[in-house]
Amino acid sequence: MEKLLESIEERLALVPEGLRAHVQRTRATARNIAENHGIDATRCDVGAAAHDLARHWTNQALLAESQYQKLKLSDIEEKEPLLLHGPVAAFWLRNEMNCSDSELVSAVAYHTTGRPKMTPVEKVVFIADKVEPEKVARNEELEIVLRHAEDNLDLAILSYLSLRIRSLLEANKLIHPLSLDTWNAISAEKSH
Ligand SMILES: [Fe+2]
Repeated sequence: MEKLLESIEERLALVPEGLRAHVQRTRATARNIAENHGIDATRCDVGAAAHDLARHWTNQALLAESQYQKLKLSDIEEKEPLLLHGPVAAFWLRNEMNCSDSELVSAVAYHTTGRPKMTPVEKVVFIADKVEPEKVARNEELEIVLRHAEDNLDLAILSYLSLRIRSLLEANKLIHPLSLDTWNAISAEKSH
């Protein structure tokens, strides 16, 4: 795990400063949330460190890289290539940094959309990215997500998706099917 973190940090040194600062805040937040819930904080930290390695890439570069990686693109990803930054970084993690921890690879791949049946590490990385201090300071609506993150990760994810899907609808934007699938999967579990 130490070697993996070293390779991630080498790449992190190359991302723009503002993005790197967001990643560091996300890592600290992920550690805190993980420790509160008895989840492996080191793996959450590593997932958080890698989650945005492709976040500063242009749409064009993301499309070209995803073609090279032979990723299957949905219509929405072709229209909104930014959605590819998680899957592209996940590919690097697995194939270039030799990460065999599939939970970590998924945590990076699905950190933007979520997916049904996320594992605890995936949930922590997903939530930490959304409630790192700067994001909450910029958008007070996220406070409820942060509050839920203290005691119930599923509720935190639902409350985030509720805000996110609502704001996408209001802005007439596309909604990734995986976000809806995640919403439905957690809601259905809750109603049982
Ligand atoms: Fe992020």
